[in-house]
Amino acid sequence: MEKIIKVDLKEKSYNIVIKENILSSCSKYIKELKIGKKILIVTQDKVPSVWIQKVKQSLFEAGFKVFVLVLKSGEEQKDLSSLLKIVNFAIKNKFERSDSFCAVGGGVVSDLTGFAASIYYRGINFICIPTTLLGMVDAAIGGKTSINIKEGKNLLGTFYQPKIVIMDPRVLSTLSKREFLVGMGEVIKYALLEHTAKTKFPKSGFFKFLKTKKNQILKLNTKALFQIIDYSAFVKAQVVSKDEKESNLRAILNLGHTFAHGIEQAFDYKKYTHGEAVSIGMCLASKLSYRQNLISEKEVTSIISLISDYGLPTRLERPFNLNKIIKSMLLDKKNKDGKFRFILPVDKIGKVKIVSGIEIKEIKPLFLN
Ligand code: GLY
Repeated sequence: MEKIIKVDLKEKSYNIVIKENILSSCSKYIKELKIGKKILIVTQDKVPSVWIQKVKQSLFEAGFKVFVLVLKSGEEQKDLSSLLKIVNFAIKNKFERSDSFCAVGGGVVSDLTGFAASIYYRGINFICIPTTLLGMVDAAIGGKTSINIKEGKNLLGTFYQPKIVIMDPRVLSTLSKREFLVGMGEVIKYALLEHTAKTKFPKSGFFKFLKTKKNQILKLNTKALFQIIDYSAFVKAQVVSKDEKESNLRAILNLGHTFAHGIEQAFDYKKYTHGEAVSIGMCLASKLSYRQNLISEKEVTSIISLISDYGLPTRLERPFNLNKIIKSMLLDKKNKDGKFRFILPVDKIGKVKIVSGIEIKEIKPLFLN
């Protein structure tokens, strides 16, 4: 089965193509872009070489001149020195504006390569081939690119859309359970906001689907995986098509993320993965919504149960330094005048809204009970 989802951004529109075993034939789709002959694949050493080889071989057979730059693994590689490695490599090998950078990997690789592509000669073609669930359902779609600097994560970046996103659900078979669950945190997020995004999973909605198909999803059943990738990518594509630069609607994708960034930063990005922190963040956002009388206790319990059913954390393990977390949360770009601005689930599961002006004293108790 092949599924094509369009991100509709006028002259910057592009397709997300999802297909089993697509990597071996990726050049068929890339050739249609009418780009230059040189392609620089940027990847990390933890990405199984089998996936890189498939992409490389397919491009090579189609007549592209393929270069591969393998960076070390880890979020710390998303920095200025890796950015310079990419651009220096491209300059040395005489890449021109019609040529392309192609990210093969997770969110670190796509954020970094997308950023490099956006500034190299004021913009070179960018192709994205995510190899993690998080990459597929979030990082690869929507054109947010960035690197980290010592002052904070993702502080330098651009909006720069890829020319195409190619996804092969098969690659998920080589992820560890924990890496897979990083992406599941974001997949569950789409279930909590699908109605506000004006999308609806066929029949009973995505939340119910995730509840009833939990075993198949966790066993990496091919059909179930295809469905969650397809629908999550669709929701994200819809939101980005309506609001590329996060002027309004796109902000809903930050559900759970102010809490998550605070938690990740306070633990030096070591104890919790992004998906785990987002999961705890969504539970805290639900509890806050309940305290604000915006959602019923029953809905909050359902949200927390689903997250827990997937083996994701629903609360912080003690001990933790709450003041440090709050301090980190206050750095969030979305806050205003020292007060928090959150995306909160409201009414029925599937709906969220932006709530501003939340004070620190309203946040602290959420962590403690
Ligand atoms: N990850 C949130 C966004 O792309 O807007």
